[in-house]
Amino acid sequence: MKIVTNPREMQNISRSLIVGGKTIGFVPTMGYLHAGHLSLVKASRAENDFTVVSIFVNPTQFAPNEDFSKYPRDMEKDEKLLVEEGVDYLFYPSATDIYPSGFETYVEQEKIAHTFEGEFRPTHFRGVTTIVSILFNIVQPTKAYFGQKDAQQCAVLSRMVKDLWFPVEMVVCPIVREEDGLALSSRNVYLNKMERQEALILSKTIEFAKNLIREGERDTNTISTLAMENLEKPVSAKPDYFLVVKYDSFESVEKLEPGEKYFLLAACSIGKTRLIDNAIITV
Ligand code: PAF
Repeated sequence: MKIVTNPREMQNISRSLIVGGKTIGFVPTMGYLHAGHLSLVKASRAENDFTVVSIFVNPTQFAPNEDFSKYPRDMEKDEKLLVEEGVDYLFYPSATDIYPSGFETYVEQEKIAHTFEGEFRPTHFRGVTTIVSILFNIVQPTKAYFGQKDAQQCAVLSRMVKDLWFPVEMVVCPIVREEDGLALSSRNVYLNKMERQEALILSKTIEFAKNLIREGERDTNTISTLAMENLEKPVSAKPDYFLVVKYDSFESVEKLEPGEKYFLLAACSIGKTRLIDNAIITV
């Protein structure tokens, strides 16, 4: 695996691969890799000639009160995992190479980025759309791989790729979970033993909501209210939202319609750690 830190060098490598008729699969990450990230790498390796993984803890997607400085990092372990997975290039730029002094151009989405997660983290998606645009321009991937755990991020980025005509195919891979149901996240490392147990409330509440729907409940207000009551049961839990939105547009609905596909979205702090989870359901 070649480690590339210089953005221009990475861009030149990608260009020569493309000129040589090769396809490039790209997995953008913030490091501290787990089996969820590795499932994206595996998918990319299976579908492309070359795989590029980036590790960059992107400062612009964290608000001042969030966990940028203490976001977990373990470069040595990440490198080892990526070598084992047969990754071709690790792109590992510095913050000053990506955001040099004088940087002032951001990509801002108007609608989806300002709902749900966007209401709780108002500047988050602006940081995500900006960094992913920069990374796409450097890496020039044929296909880019993202995890469904960040469902709204996937919706925001798919819209951006469409609106701005990025020549990239977005691939969304399923959530990877621990055996007991907890969705894998680099932030799970913050949880103490009790919180780790209580964090199961997210996946359990999603199952609870799925059951309500299976039993015939179609009113999304009722589903959200009952799910929120469930989410706030553990001592350490402070739920932000439980929502049912349309699968394609991420719009809220009042009534679920037969044959339609929806996302069930949960966001809840467990102690000081904010976690999200989701599931797709067809009614
Ligand atoms: O999902 C993430 O890890 C990040 O939001 C991403 C897409 C790598 C952008 O920094």
